[in-house]
Amino acid sequence: MTRPRAPRSDSTATPRPPQPAEAPAIAILDCGGQYTKVIDRRVRELAVRSEIYPLDVDPAELEGVQALILSGGPESVHADSALPYDPGIFAPGRPVLGICYGMQLLSHHFGGTVEPGESAEYGVETIHLERPSPLFEGLDAAQVVLMSHGDAVAQPPPGFEVVARSAQHVAAIADASRALYGVQFHPEVDLTQHGMRMLENFVRAAGIPQTYVLEDRIEASVRTIRERVGTGNVVVLVSGGVDSAVTAALLLRALPAEQVYAVHVDHGLMRKDESRLVARSLRAMGLDHLRVVDASDAFFDETATIDGEVLGPLPALADPEDRRRFIGHRFLDVLNRELDALGLDPETTFVAQGTLRPDLIESGNPDVSATAHTIKTHHNDVSRIREARARGLIVETNADWHKDEIRRVAVSLGLPEAVAQRQPFPGPGLGLRVMAYDGGERVPDDLDARIAAHLAGVPELGAEVPDVRTVPIRTVGVQGDHRSYRFLTVLGGVRPDPDDPHRLGRIGRAIPNRFRDVNRVVLALDPERDVRVLEPRVAGLDRPAVALVREIDAIVRDRLDDLPLSQVLSVLLPVGVEARWSVAIRTFITNDYMTGRHAELGADVPIARAVELERELRERFDEIDLVLYDITSKPPATVEWM
Ligand code: XMP
Repeated sequence: MTRPRAPRSDSTATPRPPQPAEAPAIAILDCGGQYTKVIDRRVRELAVRSEIYPLDVDPAELEGVQALILSGGPESVHADSALPYDPGIFAPGRPVLGICYGMQLLSHHFGGTVEPGESAEYGVETIHLERPSPLFEGLDAAQVVLMSHGDAVAQPPPGFEVVARSAQHVAAIADASRALYGVQFHPEVDLTQHGMRMLENFVRAAGIPQTYVLEDRIEASVRTIRERVGTGNVVVLVSGGVDSAVTAALLLRALPAEQVYAVHVDHGLMRKDESRLVARSLRAMGLDHLRVVDASDAFFDETATIDGEVLGPLPALADPEDRRRFIGHRFLDVLNRELDALGLDPETTFVAQGTLRPDLIESGNPDVSATAHTIKTHHNDVSRIREARARGLIVETNADWHKDEIRRVAVSLGLPEAVAQRQPFPGPGLGLRVMAYDGGERVPDDLDARIAAHLAGVPELGAEVPDVRTVPIRTVGVQGDHRSYRFLTVLGGVRPDPDDPHRLGRIGRAIPNRFRDVNRVVLALDPERDVRVLEPRVAGLDRPAVALVREIDAIVRDRLDDLPLSQVLSVLLPVGVEARWSVAIRTFITNDYMTGRHAELGADVPIARAVELERELRERFDEIDLVLYDITSKPPATVEWM
């Protein structure tokens, strides 16, 4: 067993604050899940104090803790990689809720059996309650939940009952007499319809009073900044998004304006007109020292040395992680040049970032989770940032917050509504919106025939079987808390059905659940086009491609602007019938961006609107062959394609 570590929650900046004197009511033990921090946040929303600990925590550290929640995680309780823990954490009389991996661990520990499931479940499923349980009090017998797992409980431990099942697996177990509960799904995420109610039911079953009033996190953050920065100088990297704007506003609240510098790096990958708008809104906030740097040459024409390896420039990079690392490091190179120009010493100047909690979770940051897998390296968590963080130079005011919380903070800090509600735009910007193909990859020959046969054999997927063409373009996904990097399946010959708007989502789920080569599915919006003849061609991220996707992105966002969508993005991919690009529109509905779904045609997006947009894009852009629509939820596919 490795050495237990201190709780790691509630830190707005490293080094971590001292341990809280009083034990939290609920300890969340982190098994490496993507949603561990979401559990923490949900519990606090229920007015209960919680802290996250590593699973291998010393039970002595849990003294005074009233209940445990075991998170999900990417490992298997049977594999060599099964996580170590001290059995003493299961103190008699202490209620436990095990979630996903946590339920399997609970089951394994108390003598049940866990087996690899016949087929995995990634996505929204309906489960059926088989008997009453305190966990599901007040809820109907059918519940819509998010599943993301391979293994499953086969036989619950002695004393436990199966209280709910999905079509294929045990979905919930309970031993109410000892207040021990396990759920295979994720009650903490938005996609589980009544997840909050289930968590609240657990809190009540555990007899925990809901009296923890959230401290004023804004004031706590201001205090932390003052303690950290003192009379030093701090430079904040501002992208124009709400996260870094909140960081800048908090710095201005905490420190005299002359200590606060802001740099906006235009890497040539911004949305249309964005750098101009950013400069205007930041000046309006009272940032006196603002520099806007046009640095596109540093990204498109120069290489960088990263962890001893020469990488870049951008047009040479196809792999998503290479692009992300390159862009993250180049930001710092440009920043260092700017510090020079400002007469600031890079060895002592603090760098502030708007990093949110999910950025660190998905980057596999070991401070946030010792065991989470890297899904994507966010630009604000590359190796040089981690080094600077270890030296105490990085100030992250938002590291305990999720996107929807940060919007509320923005409003309460008085930031303009347009900034507070702006759609997220990743730091690497349009650099993630042009897919590359180098001619090397091949899709297994019989894959499309097998997919088509599968679709034809499942009546819920509809009588009309789509044309199928899987292309050798890989995109990033998150499946069972693991990163995946798999092919894209294009469907053709299908019209969205206004009477059954969920159908496309069912197909978008069925294919990745069944076929390990695929994690994302798109629909050709023009049903007349034959997608079976689509071919990839060799192409990558160069300036003309970026200029094209920038124009398309502006039009697509504008045409869908009045709809309540969380994020809308356009991605260019080098496939077509003629040697041109196709463009995929990804719409996304979510609160916390850790999970979510596409906006359904015929429900969230009027079908006529999609049809008009398809026509407009094809007519305006000769370079565009097909217009595609992403019908995949997260999981299995991430929001961004890279
Ligand atoms: P994914 O693609 O990981 O995206 O499902 C979740 C949310 O995060 C945004 N995103 C990023 N934001 N730097 C950022 O500031 C990044 O490197 C980055 N990668 C993804 C993405 O746009 C979505 O809103």
